[in-house]
Amino acid sequence: MEDSKHKLYIETYGCQMNVADSEVVVKILSEAGYDKTEMMEEADLILVNTCSVRENAEMRVRGRLNLFNQVKKKRPGLLIGVIGCMAERLKEKLVEEEKMVDIVVGPDAYRDLPRLVKVAGSGQKAINTLLSREETYADISPVRTDGNKISAFISIMRGCENMCAYCIVPYTRGAERSRNPQTIVEEAKKLVDNGFREITLLGQNVDSYKWTDGEIVNFPLLLEKVALVSPALRVRFATSHPKDMSDEVLYMMAKYPNICKSIHLPVQSGSTRLLGIMNRGYSREWYMNRINAIKTIVPECSVSTDIMVGFCGETEEDQQETMSLMMEVGYDFAFMFKYSERPNTYAARKMKDDVPEKVKVRRLNEVIALQNKLSEESKEKDLGKTYEVLVEGFSKKSKKDLSGRTSQNKVVVFPAENYKIGDYVMVRIERCTSATLIGVAIKL
Ligand code: 5AD
Ligand code: SF4
Repeated sequence: MEDSKHKLYIETYGCQMNVADSEVVVKILSEAGYDKTEMMEEADLILVNTCSVRENAEMRVRGRLNLFNQVKKKRPGLLIGVIGCMAERLKEKLVEEEKMVDIVVGPDAYRDLPRLVKVAGSGQKAINTLLSREETYADISPVRTDGNKISAFISIMRGCENMCAYCIVPYTRGAERSRNPQTIVEEAKKLVDNGFREITLLGQNVDSYKWTDGEIVNFPLLLEKVALVSPALRVRFATSHPKDMSDEVLYMMAKYPNICKSIHLPVQSGSTRLLGIMNRGYSREWYMNRINAIKTIVPECSVSTDIMVGFCGETEEDQQETMSLMMEVGYDFAFMFKYSERPNTYAARKMKDDVPEKVKVRRLNEVIALQNKLSEESKEKDLGKTYEVLVEGFSKKSKKDLSGRTSQNKVVVFPAENYKIGDYVMVRIERCTSATLIGVAIKL
């Protein structure tokens, strides 16, 4: 019944977790007769997997919805669905505000998509934004049709209960729950059998991963189980939380060469006072203690972070403390944001968004300029050294060059010679540009 197949076009915004979720959604809908297409003009169903973390993330989605509406006008019967965090946040409001939207599905209701699509097909609006305490999609093998077929995400837990004052995530993704470790290991094995060479274990706070049914597995033990799947499989993870990141995780990283030497440890601010207002659960001193533990136990580890400027009550002194912490750590990489008030968060209900926009922009520019310098220094330290690079694809600039990453997650470009995608190649670093290390393969 080939001609009964429908076409699904899906766009994904926001974090890596959303990328992983979209792969689950494609699998669920493939079993309901939908094939994925890259061309929105031929779609019978357009889904947009959304992010609510900052207002501009939502604005971008609204812009895309207008474009999908143009396609819908030419293609009556086309269904448009909003899924993910923005769906969860706005629920029914979304179909009231955006008339072209037929389907609204929150992050824990994807199994219901086949039914919801049928309801929408009969002309009714279809909405399911129920959050769950159990759903982990553990039994669903995601469809990994995008990407390089070398790296994949594996979601190990869902939800978040940290309640940082600024953050919408606990409201859009619900309670924290961990996925059965056996299903995680099996998924990793399957990926290796299919030629994948790198997996990233995903959770909002991987350090609080905990499985207690039968055997007790915490995050370090899970890391070990996955590292043992194959020495040829690189294992990454994100995101660690400074208040929970244990030495045990670091010792596990040091023990297994295939656990990548790279940690993403969002600091948000260098000011203990502001960290308190944010309800982050740690002080500057605690954070620096964690950084020192990384540098002692896994000395070759790179460290990246998230920084937010302009949160409620932030002063120039707080900003200076953030910048001094950045220098003290010497981050290899950072994502930097200005605070964006999100409806119904603790900060929106109880605090005043009192840093003027102009000041936020200036502070953001200051931290960006500083990080550019730090990133440059980080790359300069690599010059003359040799790193194992996992080849992920061709260089964007030239098909004669390959591109891959070091264990530290730095991008390296080098002449392809006879190497191919998926190879591990020892590369000596000779130069660097602002974003890339450039080297040559060396034969051992
Ligand atoms: N405004 C700006 N940035 C935010 N983040 C989370 N919530 C907000 C917000 N309301 C940032 C944090 C987090 C990253 C994923 O997004 O830095 O670590
Ligand atoms: Fe991911 Fe947070 Fe955005 Fe949701 S709101 S998609 S969890 S970054």
